[in-house]
Amino acid sequence: MNGAAQIPSGAYETLPSRLYTDGGVFAEEQDRIFARAWLFAGHRTQVAAPGDYFTCRAAGENLIVIHGQDGEIRAFHNLCRHRGHALLIGAGQVRRITCAYHAWTYDDTGALRAAPNMENVKGFDPACHGLRPVRLEVFHGLIFVNLEDGAQPFAPQTGAADAEIAEALPSLETRVFAHRTEALLKANWKVAIENFAECYHCQTVHKTFVQGVVQPESYRVVPRGFCELHDSVSRDGTDRFQGWRVWPLMALQSYPGGIAMTFRWIPLSINETKVEVDWWLPAAEPTPEEAELIRAHAETTFAEDIPLVESVQAGLESRGFETGLIMVDEVNSHRSEHGVKVFQDLYRREMGL
Ligand code: FES
Ligand SMILES: [Fe+2]
Repeated sequence: MNGAAQIPSGAYETLPSRLYTDGGVFAEEQDRIFARAWLFAGHRTQVAAPGDYFTCRAAGENLIVIHGQDGEIRAFHNLCRHRGHALLIGAGQVRRITCAYHAWTYDDTGALRAAPNMENVKGFDPACHGLRPVRLEVFHGLIFVNLEDGAQPFAPQTGAADAEIAEALPSLETRVFAHRTEALLKANWKVAIENFAECYHCQTVHKTFVQGVVQPESYRVVPRGFCELHDSVSRDGTDRFQGWRVWPLMALQSYPGGIAMTFRWIPLSINETKVEVDWWLPAAEPTPEEAELIRAHAETTFAEDIPLVESVQAGLESRGFETGLIMVDEVNSHRSEHGVKVFQDLYRREMGL
């Protein structure tokens, strides 16, 4: 089912606190990790019809995701090739993209179609000045973008998750946005991911989750590098709670009953991370049961993690703390932190540490 090797038991040393507190590290992460990674941008149903677009940020860059008249979904840097003015804001429908500054006009394939006075400018070739494309893949309806032209394709790296998601959430492709729960965390992005990558703290902190959603002893984290599986039997024993954490900044979760939500962590600075939880449901208006889950999640599991990660960040910033410990047990049980170990190993590799 999982295809992942067991992580040997041990009390492993964590990354040094400097990596969570030094602004220079954040700049390096932007180059070495975020600008080369597949980042979650949204869902295909947000650009359902030709001409539909939304703008988003990925690795600090302003991007456009647009559904072309030819049916293709593409991403571009949201920048005019003339002098760099932003082209679109928010979300909406366009046939042509016209810059508000000097009215250069592009079509939805990114080609420059008109630039005022261009016929009188010697040596100007509009074919050379289309919008800068950004890699985009749609995976079970979820849109991922990557700023790195040479990046490995997304889908093959997901391994067993592809079939697991198809089974758990067969209608994910047609789900629509229903609700967002968000917070600005005063914590480094890695603190937030590490919090997500273990359920060692579930019994102490997430009472509602362990009493109402899952059978906590059955919770397993199966680290597979790029796409880590979280899998648990539901409280009543008839269903599952599953999650897939995608390196580096996204996770998909399926609650019992096939209720889908995504986590997106947006690193803003070395010690600030925005977290957005989006709920993807069969209809934009949640049913009473879905609304109750959204409310309960926001008020318990989601809210309970905020003070934890903020307190850990304060600890990492203290002179009294340099490195901590990752507690991995023999069977990689529900209380083991092997997911954190695998995350930090991957981080070291990507950063060349
Ligand atoms: S900057 Fe866009 S037309 Fe000049
Ligand atoms: Fe948590």
